Amino acid sequence: MKEKILKEFKSRFETEPKLYASAGRINLIGEHTDYNGGFVFPGAIDKVIMAAIAPNDTDKVKVYSIDIDEEVEFGLNEEDAPTSSWARYIFGVCREILKRGGTVKGFDAVFAGNIPLGAGLSSSAALESCFAFALNDLFNDNTIDKFELAKIGQATEHNYCGVNCGIMDQFASVMGQKGKLMRLDCRSMEYEYYPFAPEDYELILVDSCVKHELADSPYNKRRASCERVAKRLGLETLRDATIPMLKAIRSDITAEDYFRAKFVIEEKERVLAVCDALTRGDYEKVGEEMYATHAGLSDDYEVSCEELDFLNDLARKSGITGSRIMGGGFGGCTINLVKKDNTEAFIESVKREFKEKYGHEPKIYPVVISDGARKIE
Ligand code: GLA
Repeated sequence: MKEKILKEFKSRFETEPKLYASAGRINLIGEHTDYNGGFVFPGAIDKVIMAAIAPNDTDKVKVYSIDIDEEVEFGLNEEDAPTSSWARYIFGVCREILKRGGTVKGFDAVFAGNIPLGAGLSSSAALESCFAFALNDLFNDNTIDKFELAKIGQATEHNYCGVNCGIMDQFASVMGQKGKLMRLDCRSMEYEYYPFAPEDYELILVDSCVKHELADSPYNKRRASCERVAKRLGLETLRDATIPMLKAIRSDITAEDYFRAKFVIEEKERVLAVCDALTRGDYEKVGEEMYATHAGLSDDYEVSCEELDFLNDLARKSGITGSRIMGGGFGGCTINLVKKDNTEAFIESVKREFKEKYGHEPKIYPVVISDGARKIE
């Protein structure tokens, strides 16, 4: 990918670029908890967005996307927002840096990626993080704190892409470290690295290839439900809510809001249970919690779909340790905790049975937990 990007850059621009990359992410557990002040447990993966970038001494940005085969040019003022959706991520990052008093000048860039789009692996967060990291290095002497780079990506989603997301994806993409998952407290923003290298288990993603699209989607509605319930409870977020508190206001809120909040409150507990189990090396317990998350996401939070429920049932039937829908939902991947001895048989049966039912094989990605945003020398 590196060679392809550099070659394309040379064919379009005269300058010598620098190379940057940032990663997609997985999340072991803690879904839809980030914007509720809860805990998440993500890690960066070995699939990235990579960009070659060089300042161009103008006030214009020229970016070429190899994968989409499109070049977009835009200025750096608010009214210069490009229409192309992929370019808005980059424009948003520039604007958010400028709004914070940082520096962004004109630059030329070429980028490509190998994170499957719409699979719930946060290709958009990787794009934002890659450019935020690069612009920090190129124009700001790396004076912007890394956590702030994640917030710049998140603000880009809110202000330029129509998704009211939490901080998890951008955090994981920027802060990820090889071989380590991270537990982030999305209220205090404190985080801890957890080495994740079980001897007998591995994580496998099964991509249903049902494309998810979060913009203008039910995602924002889920968040609004949670915020309504928190407000009704007199809380800032659902972080401090409990099931008895929720039950006490059940007749005052809609059934839909009730079940959304119930999921979030239970999910918060599951993340803590998983951390505990990981410390003891109890992967069977981790797996159980993953199945419970899936059930909650499907029945209460209603962000699953037929294909993902089918994949989850199949994992359970095949005796797989843990399995659940991963990320925002509405399509994309399941994440599966699989005993290494079972991996081959699981992949074979999931491919066969899914194809029999839906006419195409799901895609399988082994998870390699890797570094987040970085400069490539
Ligand atoms: C998307 C959002 C994240 C998070 C997850 C669900 O990936 O971008 O902030 O809310 O959904 O856990």
